[in-house]
Amino acid sequence: MRSTTDLHDKEIRAKTAGSLARYERSQRSLAGGVSSGLRRAARPYPLFFDRGAGSRMWDVDANEYIDYGLAWGPLILGHAPPAVADAIAAQAAKGLTFGAQHELEYLVAERLTAILPCADLVAFANAGTDVVNLALRLARAATGRPKYLKFEGHYHGWGDQALVSYRFGPQLPLGHPEPVGKGQLPHDHVLVAEWNDRAAVEALFAAHGAEISLVACEPLLANSGCIPADPGFLKFLREITTRHGALLLFDEVITGFRVALDGGQGRYGVTPDLATFAKAVGAGTPLSVLAGKREYMDLISRGEVVHAGTLNGNPLVLAAAAAALDQLAVPGFYDRLHALGNRLRSGLESLLRAQGHAVVTTGDGPVFQLAFQSDVPRNYRQTMAANKALYSDFALGLLNHGVLVLPDGRWYISGAHSEADIDATLAAAANAL
Ligand SMILES: Cc1ncc(COP(=O)(O)O)c(C=O)c1O
Repeated sequence: MRSTTDLHDKEIRAKTAGSLARYERSQRSLAGGVSSGLRRAARPYPLFFDRGAGSRMWDVDANEYIDYGLAWGPLILGHAPPAVADAIAAQAAKGLTFGAQHELEYLVAERLTAILPCADLVAFANAGTDVVNLALRLARAATGRPKYLKFEGHYHGWGDQALVSYRFGPQLPLGHPEPVGKGQLPHDHVLVAEWNDRAAVEALFAAHGAEISLVACEPLLANSGCIPADPGFLKFLREITTRHGALLLFDEVITGFRVALDGGQGRYGVTPDLATFAKAVGAGTPLSVLAGKREYMDLISRGEVVHAGTLNGNPLVLAAAAAALDQLAVPGFYDRLHALGNRLRSGLESLLRAQGHAVVTTGDGPVFQLAFQSDVPRNYRQTMAANKALYSDFALGLLNHGVLVLPDGRWYISGAHSEADIDATLAAAANAL
């Protein structure tokens, strides 16, 4: 594949000179030249985009791409869905933000509490990171306990207390809490287990049960291999947290409004105490939501736990969410997304296997992972067996043939994708190889 990769690299560079010039300029004033560190991973360099519509994006050199990155997940309706864009424009003409109450707050809140099993009450913020931090704080306040338990490879935003044991090398001792970057606070309050490991969770509760305020997980481990919970594992988490008086948090920033209208909790049939949402709930705008049971959320209602934010609940993002929910709630929307995702997933598997590659896909319909490895991973450490360099070469080839994918192997489908897009993508993949 090496010489093919060199060719792809050369051809992409030849047609994206405008992006390279802008990237070089950007680095002179913007730290790292990008606004979120992960975007630096793009090969051959981060591209600059001019516009998007539906399933497509165009870069500044007028190259067109079918997009499966979807801005790392939020674009559940694709790029610039007209009803959402119109709702934002109409609201913008009436006011960008009030820093005070307005009708859209309760209109969206009422819809969310009607849709989400765990939601007696909701609270709004701007980023997933914000509402994860709020959930951790609520759990400490509700239980009076200092610690929480998370799983290796699960991502809960970049806050000091959450960015632990997310990315690390195989030499790290099992269950060791490990910060991802420098400058993070010490992590003696974080307990870590392997995903799908009941015995590890039981052992941590046996040793620290009286100190654990909350167990946090992505109900589908979307951030590290799109690995589902083993049958019964979410139910087990529900039972053990209840038994020990700890709260259960589903971080649904990815699964929420993506795997089903009622998220992972609806689709997998386990109701947590608290759940966090961002990405798809705002359909591409900065909206995040903490949803939860009344007894915990009332700590916010009573002002005992601080929930603040200048732009929280601003009318622009809530107008977008209201317009998006109209479309997401149309019967059959998610059946179609799952069918498209499954068609793409099995098409890619067949194509790559026919070329002799060991490849596995994991996930749930509109979000899945493609990895060059032989065994289906059940936890983050098992994803380390994947040939990431080969995936990166494959992604480069796809880019050269007009298909944009994330560098980490995750694929997202939107309501704007069509069967024709999937077929065009499979043809592009065959050409790229
Ligand atoms: C599961 C999960 N939780 C939390 C976050 C943090 O959300 P944000 O990037 O909006 O702060 C992310 C972001 O990717 C996520 O995937």
